[in-house]
Amino acid sequence: MSADPTPSRTANVEPAAVDPESRTDSQRERIAPKTPPDGDAGPSVQVTGAAPAEPVAERGLSVTLEQLRAFYGDAEQVKGIDLEFRANEVTAIIGPSGCGKSTLVRCINRMHEEIPGAHAEGRVLLDDADVYDARVDVVAVRRAIGMVFQKPNPFPTMSVFDNVAAGLRLGARARGGRGRAELNVKVEAALRAAGLWEEVSERLSEPGAGLSGGQQQRLCIARSLAVEPDVILMDEPCSALDPIATLKIEELIEELKQRVTIVIVTHNMQQAARVADRTAFMLSGELVEVGATQTIFTNPSDPRTEEYVTGKFG
Ligand SMILES: Nc1ncnc2c1ncn2[C@@H]1O[C@H](COP(=O)(O)OP(=O)(O)OP(=O)(O)O)[C@@H](O)[C@H]1O
Ligand SMILES: [Mg+2]
Repeated sequence: MSADPTPSRTANVEPAAVDPESRTDSQRERIAPKTPPDGDAGPSVQVTGAAPAEPVAERGLSVTLEQLRAFYGDAEQVKGIDLEFRANEVTAIIGPSGCGKSTLVRCINRMHEEIPGAHAEGRVLLDDADVYDARVDVVAVRRAIGMVFQKPNPFPTMSVFDNVAAGLRLGARARGGRGRAELNVKVEAALRAAGLWEEVSERLSEPGAGLSGGQQQRLCIARSLAVEPDVILMDEPCSALDPIATLKIEELIEELKQRVTIVIVTHNMQQAARVADRTAFMLSGELVEVGATQTIFTNPSDPRTEEYVTGKFG
């Protein structure tokens, strides 16, 4: 990943609380509360003090689920899951169709609650900040924890450039706009980081929907990278792609984990084995086990995991 001007120590913040432009490498920030806490009863998510001033690489943040439950109406589909996604690792979530993988990942960035009648219980911590704290800004949560879906979903009428710039413009509006030159630099950096720059640098003003499926998926990854997330959630990001495009995304994931934490849902066991440091196996809304990917595939501790990874069901 060359020519990368994006700042490090990444957590996105509510723009009104902290201007991301003012960040430095030595700052450590969190998703900030919507309103500053009064007195000493503040949540655990305010901007914190300076971290060591070493020239740190960009870092992802860990995500910890504590007794996470997710409901559609009264139907409980994620049933009290404790799970840590370690910073700068790739964690794969596997399990049969309908076991709750997508529901679980949507809870992490609070997309689940957008579904009418749906709600979540328990805690989701981004590093040590509770993303469900009432004073946390949901938009900031979704900038800090980006998402890439199964079907590439670029904004169809927008150009390649504008697709990547969309999130940046949204954040900049609150601060009175962003210069064109600065936008150019950030868009190029995100496209480079997504491994797409060489293919689209001459096509920036063409519609994003005109790219190939694999390019569109990398465009969506660039779009989420542009706002400097700490975590990227990928829900079957390659299931609509051919093997070559899949390989590109997998190589990209390997690179991206230097700068973000990655959670990837996949039905493809080989893919999990190739890209994931750790793998979590879910069944009927429960976490059966999580461990080093190699252990899950070769020496799992639960017989149900073995049955699943050897193709006996699912
Ligand atoms: N919008 C919804 N309303 C009601 N129930 C839902 C909704 N979305 C999912 N469910 C139910 O929640 C359960 C978990 O679904 P989810 O989509 O999380 O499974 P999944 O593991 O991602 O499956 P797949 O591998 O097929 O994508 C399923 O029983 C599903 O029918
Ligand atoms: Mg799913």
